[in-house]
Amino acid sequence: MSISSFLTKKFLKSLFFPAHSRGKALPKELIKILKSPPGFWDLPELPEMGSTLSKRGLIAEAQKSLSEKFNTKRCFFGVNGASGLIQSGIIAMANPGECILMPRNVHISVIKACALQNIVPIFFDIEFSIETGHYKPITKNWLANVFSNLDLEKKKIVGVILVSPYYQGYASEIEPLIEICHKNNLPVLVDEAHGSYFLFCENINLPKSAIRSEADLVVHSLHKSLNGLTQTAVLWHKGNLIEEDKLINSISLLQTTSQNSLLLSSCEESLKDWINEDNLCQYQKRILEAKDIFNELIQRNIPLVETQDPLKLVLNTSKVGIDGFTADKFFYKNGLIAELPEMMTLTFCLGFSNHRNFIILFQELWEKLKLHPKKSICMKAIKPPFRLVQSPEIPIGIAWRSKTHSIPLAESLGKISGDIICPYPPGIPLIIPGERIDQERIDWIESQSLYNEDLLNSYIRVLNT
Ligand SMILES: Cc1ncc(COP(=O)(O)O)c(C=O)c1O
Repeated sequence: MSISSFLTKKFLKSLFFPAHSRGKALPKELIKILKSPPGFWDLPELPEMGSTLSKRGLIAEAQKSLSEKFNTKRCFFGVNGASGLIQSGIIAMANPGECILMPRNVHISVIKACALQNIVPIFFDIEFSIETGHYKPITKNWLANVFSNLDLEKKKIVGVILVSPYYQGYASEIEPLIEICHKNNLPVLVDEAHGSYFLFCENINLPKSAIRSEADLVVHSLHKSLNGLTQTAVLWHKGNLIEEDKLINSISLLQTTSQNSLLLSSCEESLKDWINEDNLCQYQKRILEAKDIFNELIQRNIPLVETQDPLKLVLNTSKVGIDGFTADKFFYKNGLIAELPEMMTLTFCLGFSNHRNFIILFQELWEKLKLHPKKSICMKAIKPPFRLVQSPEIPIGIAWRSKTHSIPLAESLGKISGDIICPYPPGIPLIIPGERIDQERIDWIESQSLYNEDLLNSYIRVLNT
């Protein structure tokens, strides 16, 4: 089968990203473009259009009008996902050799930007739930404690990255966290890849978007948490702690010189779509329906995990002794395609289309899944063994570029990693280049690998000594 023929494959229920649910919730203006003769819309950077960094042109105007609408200094569209814009933000924040404070569950794009620029990641650990195998949202007290354990004299920390919401939908109260960082004179980049639509939903009790706070940079993934095409994203710039020129240089450093016009249009339309009052009403209705679906499934004794994002349904399959990977295969076979399998849970993304008949279908499949033969009596999530504050022993950029050889993970004790061990999804690194591999981490990965094929019999590149 070719890629193109797979693209038209039908599934019973597509509960994955992009959140436009296979076109059902795409902005009307974008649908109009897609209905024009095939490829007609594929324009280069003509003077009328410009690019995301031009001073004039339709793209500049759209970005300006959106940044005015949301009281930010600048707004930049991106066509290399939230990953690309997060990386530009990081490069604007820190020079080679400087340090950025970040939680242990940052997305892999952050680590790669650090490797590229030889920026030092200073990781802080996060509370962990053994019930779900997920990190818990960061609280003000937790972050304050992290700061009190930092040696700010010794390490040149120049910025902080925060992630909220997480992939599964857990969100922190972001404002007090930003305040702590600002009190320490540090700018903050909030990775809000999974929370773009929070910007439009404070009135229905969704968490406050980082755009409404004093964050310095905020990145949204428009295909994950708004109704944009895959790869679309937006970076918002606020305050005076990050220099605008530096940010523009960093965006220019990483972005293609041939931005896809359809994707740029999708950036504009997905945001404008939500500004329109009638559409907003419809979308908010969907979100409230998603809350109802959650409540109804809970009433039917289906073990869902509560998060702050109503569009994520997190099924705790471990409650019936089934791991999320096995459950994922089962649902896939039955036409219900999920987004994120993990050891204890399986996460579905409801997206912005409606979900008639979903509850009955979901319950039927759940009852069948409970009878699955591959059950484990005792499933236990173990907290990843990280210290409260930790940084790689050798600078990441040096380790990344060093000569390495590949050995089985089990034989790598005490060696320096030249590799990122990072199962995707969720794309959270367990070991990064420059870190010394300890017994606790080997044991932890081995205990998890019983369930996750990505980690099974894994090899790791370690530095030649
Ligand atoms: C927390 C987080 N940030 C950023 C990204 C990257 O987003 P994108 O796929 O739009 O590049 C992801 C992707 O999974 C993510 O989970």
